[in-house]
Amino acid sequence: MNTSISGFSKLSKSEKINWIVDTYFSNKEQAKKILTQYWNSDNKLQQLHDEFIENTITNYYLPLGVAPNFLINGKLHTIPMAIEESSVVAAASKAAKFWLDRGGFKATVLSTTKIGQVHFMFHGQPKKLEAYFKSVKNRLIADAKSITQNMEKRGGGILDIELRNKTEKLSGYYQLHATFETLDAMGANFINSCLEQFATTFKQEALRFKDFTDTEKQIEIVMSILSNYVPNCLVRAEVSCPVSDLSDNKNSHPEAFAQKFVQAVNIAEVEPYRAVTHNKGIMNGIDAVVLATGNDFRAVEAGVHAYASRNGTYSSLTHAKIENGIFTFWMEIPLALGTVGGLTGLHPLVKFALELLHKPSAKELMQIVAVAGLAQNFAALRSLTTTGIQEGHMKMHLMNILNQFDATTEEKAHIINHFKTHVVTHRAVVEAIDNLRK
Ligand code: MEV
Repeated sequence: MNTSISGFSKLSKSEKINWIVDTYFSNKEQAKKILTQYWNSDNKLQQLHDEFIENTITNYYLPLGVAPNFLINGKLHTIPMAIEESSVVAAASKAAKFWLDRGGFKATVLSTTKIGQVHFMFHGQPKKLEAYFKSVKNRLIADAKSITQNMEKRGGGILDIELRNKTEKLSGYYQLHATFETLDAMGANFINSCLEQFATTFKQEALRFKDFTDTEKQIEIVMSILSNYVPNCLVRAEVSCPVSDLSDNKNSHPEAFAQKFVQAVNIAEVEPYRAVTHNKGIMNGIDAVVLATGNDFRAVEAGVHAYASRNGTYSSLTHAKIENGIFTFWMEIPLALGTVGGLTGLHPLVKFALELLHKPSAKELMQIVAVAGLAQNFAALRSLTTTGIQEGHMKMHLMNILNQFDATTEEKAHIINHFKTHVVTHRAVVEAIDNLRK
């Protein structure tokens, strides 16, 4: 159906819903019920969610799970994870337990610099532009004082602004490339406000720069925006133990396990098709914690994948080695996260998640999130190189299949018990349900 509407955002919530169900649904009552059953009975809480975005019609639930027993730099954490994929929290918990008995995870923040750029066009002499930039740089920083003074009081702010000549790539294209320290804030609003102020000052002052011709005075600002590529906002997470300590009920031959594990990582380092899936598994852990703590997982995803291709080929984010009988598995990953601002003070579940994590600083959260990613990759590779992934996946997926068939609590208990000793496949589960119901 081809139906457009103007003024939709001005309609009330129930008018919006009426228009949607009238336009797109044959069973209107059922469609309405699906939406309204997710409304919160606490009106204030519902209003809070309504106002996060435009045109809210209902709430979209994801499970919030927790993975306990994460020992990170000697401190125990229970990590909150918001995710729909059945096996992720279970895998994280298993990896946490495995490493709890082997010294836990170590994590270090390597750098915290964020980047923003004013992209502009200038069609005059580059040398004159350089001279203009030199003369105006302090003014750019001074004019942003009202935005930066609070951040500066806490020890952050603008670190530097550079002029970058990009004309070899695109005729007339230059940037003001600025670096920032935003402390516990993710800093998107702070950085964007600074950049827009730089752009205003930069354009205005150019009109007064003596050495510019009239054409050169007309600097054309294209846009001012932070970069989600943050290769200098890096955290390292690591686990390590003697190879002989790797044995457990799954790995009875720890040397063979360690070698195969390292091979699996090496494959992801050289083969992009594998690297994408390998890194996707890491992001299962990372996104779940990023989302639970109210951070921007799209920004994190974009930055992480750009980092994974920084050498020109998409490659594994994790690395592993065996040296002098010691197995080491590690990852360095860019993560621009905040524990103040944004949703962190607004969404009750985000506040809960941050309190559960002992109200971390942004640096501590970077460490926790990186560890969740490393743990997830460890769990995936451990399954892939031993039993295969489907054993665990299908066990977790069993409940989804049972729910698809509206299994009762008794049916679920019976079938789960049956599959303790049988291989879970979709067909086998359907057969088991049929047999039970006969
Ligand atoms: C599934 O969500 C993630 C895995 O495919 C990751 C991997 O293959 O390493 C299991």
